[in-house]
Amino acid sequence: MRGELCVGFASVLALAATILLIFAHVGQINTSNVPRGIYLAKVNVSQYGAALAEAFLNPVDGLYTDNGSAPLQASAGLRQYYEFGLYSYCAYVNETAGICSGTTAAFEFTPYDILISDMSSNASALDYKTLSDAFIPFITFRDSHYLAQTSRAAYYMILLGTIGAAISFFSGIAKHNITFFVSSVAAAISSLFLLIGATIWTVILNRSDSINSLVLGSQTNSTPLGIQVSTGPALFIVWAAFACLFASMIPYFIICCTYRG
Ligand SMILES: *[C@@H]1O[C@H](CO)[C@@H](O)[C@H](O)[C@H]1NC(C)=O
Ligand SMILES: *[C@@H]1O[C@H](CO)[C@@H](O)[C@H](O)[C@H]1NC(C)=O
Ligand SMILES: *[C@@H]1O[C@H](CO)[C@@H](O)[C@H](O)[C@H]1NC(C)=O
Repeated sequence: MRGELCVGFASVLALAATILLIFAHVGQINTSNVPRGIYLAKVNVSQYGAALAEAFLNPVDGLYTDNGSAPLQASAGLRQYYEFGLYSYCAYVNETAGICSGTTAAFEFTPYDILISDMSSNASALDYKTLSDAFIPFITFRDSHYLAQTSRAAYYMILLGTIGAAISFFSGIAKHNITFFVSSVAAAISSLFLLIGATIWTVILNRSDSINSLVLGSQTNSTPLGIQVSTGPALFIVWAAFACLFASMIPYFIICCTYRG
């Protein structure tokens, strides 16, 4: 009886990890209700135009678009905020209207390039691409080469962790010493992958969000730059999945050594 409880407990944890990871994978693949709320990172640029206007004492026209379905990366205008998932990103003009990029495996987190490619360079006398290149210092947020490489590596870690979590759960259903052993090993290896993937994302977001405290202008007359990076629920979901999977390893290991089925 104690053994059955142990099996049930391990299976629930492995199943929970698998389901959590599936949610993490669907984040931002389209703008329907559930994917829309799940993102790894949010970049809110809604105050950037105001910051430019204050720094130049000139109105900033044509920087943003109000058209939620305007094409991405086509100089069609900046959106209010951008949310990034594991396969794609979506850009929103308000809480309800937005458009998503095409999905691709190992999607690279390159927020600066994405913002710049939405800015129009000829909407007014001000060329916003050139201005942004001049005013935003070369900090991690702009380092697309580093961010692309690390986010791609993190993607593969999370993908392998997801496959391992599913193997761990399904193997444990078979209820045999060998399959419990497979479950415990799969849980151990895949929780390590998830740990690495979640750590990479935590580190790159902690570095990227140094842009939040940047200011435009002189010390006497400075305005916040108005670009805010924040961490989204998908990263907490991956951390939670890691915790579940890591915890399931212990009962799986106990049962594989003691099960007399
Ligand atoms: C973006 O930032 C502005 C100003 O800080 C805030 O009012 C707005 O709610 C933010 N939008 C989102 C979606 O976080
Ligand atoms: C969001 O933007 C779209 C497109 O501009 C507009 O049709 C819609 O009314 C806006 N919704 C809200 C809540 O502001
Ligand atoms: C918004 O952009 C789409 C795609 O470019 C275009 O078909 C549509 O006419 C635009 N809507 C408005 C109101 O400009």
